[in-house]
Formats: sequence, C-alpha cells, structure tokens
Amino acid sequence: MRMKILVVGGGGREHALAWKIGQSPRVDRVFVAPGNAGTALETDLPIENVEIADHDLAGLVQFAKRNEIHLAVIGPEAPLAAGIVDALGAEGIRSFGPSGQAAALEASKIFCKNLLRHADVPSADFRAFSDAASAVQHLQARDDVPVVVKADGLAAGKGVIVCDNREQALEAVERIAGAKEFGEAGSQLIIEERLVGEEASVLAITDGQTIVTLPAAQDHKPAHDGDCGPNTGGMGAYSPAPVVTPEIMRSVEERVLVPTVHHMKRSRRPFRGVLYAGLMITPQGVKVLEYNVRFGDPECQPLMLRLQSDLVDLLEAAAAGRLAEAPSLEWDSRPAVCVVMASAGYPGSYTKGHALRGLDAAAEVADAKVFHAGTQLRDGQPVTSGGRVLGVTALGESIATAKLQAYTAVKCIRWDGAWCRKDISDKAFSRT
Ligand code: AMP
Ligand code: GLY
Repeated sequence: MRMKILVVGGGGREHALAWKIGQSPRVDRVFVAPGNAGTALETDLPIENVEIADHDLAGLVQFAKRNEIHLAVIGPEAPLAAGIVDALGAEGIRSFGPSGQAAALEASKIFCKNLLRHADVPSADFRAFSDAASAVQHLQARDDVPVVVKADGLAAGKGVIVCDNREQALEAVERIAGAKEFGEAGSQLIIEERLVGEEASVLAITDGQTIVTLPAAQDHKPAHDGDCGPNTGGMGAYSPAPVVTPEIMRSVEERVLVPTVHHMKRSRRPFRGVLYAGLMITPQGVKVLEYNVRFGDPECQPLMLRLQSDLVDLLEAAAAGRLAEAPSLEWDSRPAVCVVMASAGYPGSYTKGHALRGLDAAAEVADAKVFHAGTQLRDGQPVTSGGRVLGVTALGESIATAKLQAYTAVKCIRWDGAWCRKDISDKAFSRT
C-alpha cells in the first residue's frame, strides 16, 4: 500500500523534506501542515497543504487519524518539545522525531549540558543558575574572561548572548533573568566558557540504537557578510563542509554521537529522529555547542538536494527502530549551496505581503532549486509572509560552481526589500 505522509511545519526545511518525500515511489500523498507557497506550487508532486498550524497538536492528531497517516515527519522543535510524537503515538500513528522527553536535548540547555558532562562528550565548561543574584556573584568572583550566557529554554535561537567581557555578561544576565526578555525560557540560565574556532553542523539519523551520519554542513548565522551583524536563524548553508575532515568526522561519531545516543537510552529517554550536533572545531578538537533534535534550517535544503536515496525508507526505518537494516545512503558527489533571501529588516521587524517575481526564470537555472520558507499564496500568487523568504539552492561540480549557480538563480528573483548574504560558502574556499 502506498503511504500517506504528514510533514509538520511551514519553513524552508519542510519544503525541502516534502519535495524529497514527494518523489518517493512509495508515497501516495504528502500533506504539509501548514506548508507555504512553495509546497502549494509543487503541482508535479503529490503534495498538498493543510491549514493546521504546527503548534495545534490536537488538530494535527485529529487530521492524522482521520486521514490514516502512515508516518508523520516533524520539522520544528516546538511541537517536538510539546510532545507531538507522544500524542500521535497514543493514537497509533508513527512519527519520525523524538519524544517530548528526548526533545529536552534541545528544549533545555541545562539538560543537554548535564548529559554531555555525564557522557564525557567534549563541550564548553558551564555553570547553571536559577536566579540572577547567584549568576552575578559567579561572574564577579571569577576572572574577567569571555563567556556565553544562555537562557535554558527554547527562545527561537535568540536566547544565546556571546560576551567579550564581564560587563557584557552582567548585562546578558540582566536581560535573561532580570528583564525576562525570553520569558519562561529564561527562568534558568547557564554561563559557559566561550569557545574559539570554526562552526559546523553534523546531522545524524538515529533510531535510538543505530546512527546514520549525514555529510557535514555549515550554516551562516550572522546576518551580514563576513559574519557581521545580529544572529539569525541561518542565512545560508552548504554541504559537504571541508572543515569537517574525515578524521574530525570520525571523532564526531566516536566521541559525540555514539556516547550521546547511548546516554539518552540509559537516561530512559531513547532518542529517535535527527540528532543535530552544532559543533565548534577548536584547536583542541571538536566540541559540542548545542544539540538540536530536528533537521537544521537551512542545512536541510542542501542535504535534500544531494540525497539520492529514498528519504521515506530512511525515516520509516528510523521511526520503526529498524535503521540497522536500512541500506546505506547514496549522495550526489557534487556539493550544494543554499542562499537564503530575506525580507528587509530581518532579523528585526519587517513587512509582509510583497509579491515575488522571477521564480519561473530561477527555476530554469541548471541544477538549482528554489525552496520557499516565509511565503504564502495570495490570489494564487506567491507573496512574502516571513523574515527568511526563500532558500535558493544549487548543485555544482565544486563548491564554487554550486555557489555561482545558486547566485545566478538568486539574481532572477526580486521583491520589495529582498536581500541576501553574498558570501555563502566562502569559508570553504580557504580549504579547497
Ligand atoms: P546555540 O543556539 O547554543 O548554538 O548558540 C548559537 C550560537 O552562539 C552558536 O552558533 C555560536 O555561534 C554561538 N555560541 C554558542 N555557544 C558558544 C560558545 N560556548 N562559545 C562560542 N560561541 C558560542
Ligand atoms: N540552522 C540552524 C538551526 O536550524 O537551528
């Protein structure tokens, strides 16, 4: 029987997942809740948007039951942390993604850091605090060194404040624990050693036992060229990332992924889904900055463009605890580069509803694919509806060619206020 699959989420990651899942011969229909204009416009694939928000757990469970969904694939962290996989499971619906308990690896930085400590996974030294006064006391008592102050809970990527000195750290503590800028997410906080090095993302699929590592990727979090400006959800990504040499990849598997999955199991929170390690490659070796419990956005877009195997086989095997039996993955040997096009003002406030032009011309660019993120249809035409609007992604014989193809497609597209970083993937060139 051909499968009905529900993809939960409406960003660039979910467009890429639905696009890849929709190409599987095993699939009858892919529902995307809520999806975006990009998933709505995939008319050559059996993809359909459904108007249910990704935080409407009851609505999603009801839809999945009514439509006899065979597999739910959960994109964002918030529904995972809220226990959507448990809620679907209680109704007999299988999901790809961790339980609410296992999602704590992303939803609580203190849980994550304690697990890393117990599992002896290399990571920055840290201390956890539940009130401002003890955090301030800690900062006053130690040397004035660069630290990072983090709200414990989910804060849409904003609850991390990288500080150069004590003065900035005290201000960060005040923002998190005094002014409660991140609300409940800041009811506890951590202060950790600031690491120096180059960042990379290694994503792995696991069923709680077997681990399948995906090729490394590199995100670009700061808004502007040369890694300047405020942090964003990610302004572009590419894969593979040459900073992760085969030797470093081996150390990530042995010293990071394996002990983490093992300890999650021992802590009675077996982890199934995507284990996304945000890494710092330091002169002393690899260290974990954080875990995410889902595909990265935009890292997912170049990975899906490169994946040649059937994604449904992989996700289903992981959800069913049969990953050991799954055939090994095949990848396009060509690198892929994804350039995010954003709304004027992002990551601050921005206006919505601007008509997108030039998507047809961009679709003609060889080896390029435009994944939508913050878009929706208005009278059948795509308009902007978010800060990160598109993830223009392309393959090439080299990273340089992939970059050229991606920016060639970017140049076709316009709307009022559209902008992007011009240097996505340049960090790779210093190595190739
Ligand atoms: P996180 O959400 O924990 O990945 O943090 C967001 C960003 O903050 C990371 O991508 C890093 O750029 C930076 N960051 C987090 N922790 C550290 C650290 N210990 N040292 C240096 N930079 C960090
Ligand atoms: N690209 C960073 C993230 O997905 O959290």
